[in-house]
Amino acid sequence: MKFRTRLVLAISLTTALTFGSAFGAVWRVVTRSEERELDETLREASRDELRELAQQRGATLRLSAIDGPPGDDAAPLERFAALYAQDRLVDATRATCAPRPTPPPDHASFLMRCGKTNLQALASTIPGRSPDHVLLIALPRTNLEADESLLGQTLAIALAIAVGAATGVTFVVVRRLTLQHDAIADAARQVAAGNLHARAPLVSGDAELAQLTTDINVMIDRLGTLVASQKRFIAHAAHELRSPLTALLGELSLATRRERTAEEYKLAIDEALDATRRLKLLTEDLLALARLGTDAAPEPETVALAALLREAVASAGAAATERGIAVTTAIDDVTLTARPRDLVRLSKNLLDNAVGHAASRVNVTCREVGGAEVEIAVEDDGPGVPDEERARIFEPFYRSAEDRAREEPGAGLGLSIVREIARAHGGDVSVERAELGGARFVARLRGGGRATSEGSRDAAG
Ligand SMILES: Nc1ncnc2c1ncn2[C@@H]1O[C@H](COP(=O)(O)OP(=O)(O)O)[C@@H](O)[C@H]1O
Ligand SMILES: [Mg+2]
Repeated sequence: MKFRTRLVLAISLTTALTFGSAFGAVWRVVTRSEERELDETLREASRDELRELAQQRGATLRLSAIDGPPGDDAAPLERFAALYAQDRLVDATRATCAPRPTPPPDHASFLMRCGKTNLQALASTIPGRSPDHVLLIALPRTNLEADESLLGQTLAIALAIAVGAATGVTFVVVRRLTLQHDAIADAARQVAAGNLHARAPLVSGDAELAQLTTDINVMIDRLGTLVASQKRFIAHAAHELRSPLTALLGELSLATRRERTAEEYKLAIDEALDATRRLKLLTEDLLALARLGTDAAPEPETVALAALLREAVASAGAAATERGIAVTTAIDDVTLTARPRDLVRLSKNLLDNAVGHAASRVNVTCREVGGAEVEIAVEDDGPGVPDEERARIFEPFYRSAEDRAREEPGAGLGLSIVREIARAHGGDVSVERAELGGARFVARLRGGGRATSEGSRDAAG
């Protein structure tokens, strides 16, 4: 059964039970009070008749011709009366249906039937006579029953209206609520089926539901953007893989086309090796990026950042020397809770870029900032990064036109890897203009430990 139907049924049933028992109680109170009134009238009629009977002296008793007591409308209540003696009906002027044997006297009133009429009856002993002499007085319950039935009908109609109204209101409200849910569920199904253009329309004016709908739509939007960027990424990756592969294939097929000299073979193998190296670099970068986005990353450990950075500077030393670039450092003695391999990669990527772009100088600094944050900055005196490119250089596969033209190795993944690593360590990376005149890349990482002012300040390269 649908949730909507179940809810409507449950609320209708609850309303029916609540109102039903309340109306039942009202009906009971009203009819009980009318019954008590009838009992009182009955007792009064009995007392009147008993007073009359007490005055009779003869052996044989006669019922008086007293009219019935006044009813709740104009006409007096018709009176039924009978006299018993030794279990014998002495007189039954208006009670041909008087019960036999003699009803037990002086008890509560009881119900009896006379033809089609229901009667309320009371039996009493007659003062001054033997206990066998019993007077029976009865009054019709017709008015009382008519009142009971009218009240019953009125309450039943009221109950039906209450239940109907509750059901109607519940239905409308639940429908309004579930309509929005249906819209959201519909959009979710479409998204699950692969349609990322599906959106949940706003059909309810309810603020919470509207917020939920907006959130879901924003989530689908974000999913769409993610899928699109994944597709773009794959297209870029395939494109980048294709050029070295094409080069490799070209070299190899050219080399085997005819007999070559040893010199020519060596040249072809060198070219093929170069293409293979580019392929390896690209694959490593792709792997690094893929690993960063998953849970497969190893647990962080305490890393002596100063030593790690100095090693990175030493590794970049050869390339720096070759290009005539001096690398200076100002590295504080900082430890960091991090993944060492990631930190090696981050420093290597920033250093390689700086050495690749610098005119003559690169400076590497590392210090603790604020509480537990560590800042690694790599600056150079190269051309710097133009303002309009600052956001884009961190996107995967982005390379400046000059870099492409220079045919430097690299597919534009270096800085996006740096950004992913910084973010994975609770920080981020940014670029600004360096005091040296070129670019200054600043990576901030969380999880910093002790920092000493005794940090090394030396020069290399
Ligand atoms: N130190 C720098 N100075 C100037 N431009 C830089 C520097 N570092 C990176 N860039 C710019 O950022 C682009 C992307 O760099 P990166 O992501 O490291 O690519 P790759 O992986 O090919 O080295 C480069 O093409 C270059 O335009
Ligand atoms: Mg690079």
